[in-house]
Amino acid sequence: MVNFDYQTPTRLIFGKGVVREKLSSVMNKFGKRVLITYGGGSIKRVSEWQSRSLYDEVKEIIADKEVFELSGIQPNPKFNPSVVDGVRICQDEKIDVILSVGGGSVLDCTKAIAGVAGTLQGKVDDNIEEAWDIVCGRKPTTSAVPIVDIITMAATGSEYDSGGVISRTETNDKLAYFSYHVFPAVSFIDPTYTFTLPVKQTLAGIADCINHIMESYFCAEHIDMNDAFMEGAIKSLIKNVKTVLRDPANYDARAEIFYATTLGCNGIYCLGNSASGWPMHGMEHALSAYYDITHGEGLAIITPRWMQHILEHSTGDLHNQVVERIEKFGKNIFDTEGCETSIKAMHDFFREIGIPMTLPEVGIDESRLAEMAKHVAENEGLDQAWVPLLEKDILDIFKACMK
Ligand code: NZQ
Ligand code: ZN
Repeated sequence: MVNFDYQTPTRLIFGKGVVREKLSSVMNKFGKRVLITYGGGSIKRVSEWQSRSLYDEVKEIIADKEVFELSGIQPNPKFNPSVVDGVRICQDEKIDVILSVGGGSVLDCTKAIAGVAGTLQGKVDDNIEEAWDIVCGRKPTTSAVPIVDIITMAATGSEYDSGGVISRTETNDKLAYFSYHVFPAVSFIDPTYTFTLPVKQTLAGIADCINHIMESYFCAEHIDMNDAFMEGAIKSLIKNVKTVLRDPANYDARAEIFYATTLGCNGIYCLGNSASGWPMHGMEHALSAYYDITHGEGLAIITPRWMQHILEHSTGDLHNQVVERIEKFGKNIFDTEGCETSIKAMHDFFREIGIPMTLPEVGIDESRLAEMAKHVAENEGLDQAWVPLLEKDILDIFKACMK
């Protein structure tokens, strides 16, 4: 078991009605000047399960504050305009706290805004490259505007981690931003908000979380307790996604999914395991940077092809480790015997619930696979992954995703 040093300062407030119950008292702990961040409008829609929109509810709860807004944050959030616009508002309006209302993209963008606004000395419009250096980690984040979030999508686990993923369109970069300073102070998680998720997003969230767990499970050093924890979480996701596909407003199923996804990216599932290098995320980030596809769909497509590749291309003791991991994964989750059936079961599950399982199905053709493989090899450090991947391996995996 490897050493670990773990701390998560985020307060989680989970359950039906928690925003109405506690948002006001939480927001009173911060200053008067609030920036609300949100996406393309899902928080303004009223569904058959709600009496009014989340946006209206939040605005009423914090009506005693001075409220500013940044809307239109896109999936795969962009550095410019969204992060830059948010930092400008924080600087010009002396924002005390940012309230992120939306999915992982809104929260990731909020984290970058908070970290850059807290760290940058000069005005953002005069220091765009320095702001980008902070997001890339080339310049350390020294402070951040406090973040409270209401997370509306069960997927990334951004509500319980210190990371965000930001895209810069001009350079096809999609980079992870990490800082202890951007852990949300408080995360509100009400599973009823996910009743309105389109099926595509529900499924993408499931695939994202399963993949977060797999990135932790497939490593050199692991312990039985973590294996059981992670296998249990994936089994719960597999069972509960089938329930919500039949019955989107099933509270208990939505709640169990959200509980699994909230823990999914925090590291808590695998304390004591060795690092894996997160190879599937390294490859997927290129797909969603170059083609703006949905992150969870990209991951589902890559997952079985990566498993097959490391099975076929590892040797010696590493190969024995790979076989042990894939067999145990399949046996304890799908009740399969052997590696090939384990990989097939993972693929078939994603296909069965309705996720597109080839790159052409999400609009990606052969033309830029080599360019993306090169970009991943140069930027993601996958030669240091548990099973090292070089440019050729990455290209082979992308090609295997074509059919
Ligand atoms: O923009 P709006 O109108 O709000 O609509 C969103 C968006 O179109 C919609 N949505 C969200 N909640 C909804 C809803 N629609 C109806 N009802 C609701 N309750 O869903 C769409 C997708 O939202 P998005 O926030 O993009 O999804 P997700 O939470 O999956 O976030 C994906 C982003 O997170 C990054 C991904 O790379 C991607 O950029 N990741 C962040 C991580 C982290 N912070 O730790 C780790 C992950 O591995 C991942 O890389
Ligand atoms: Zn992910």
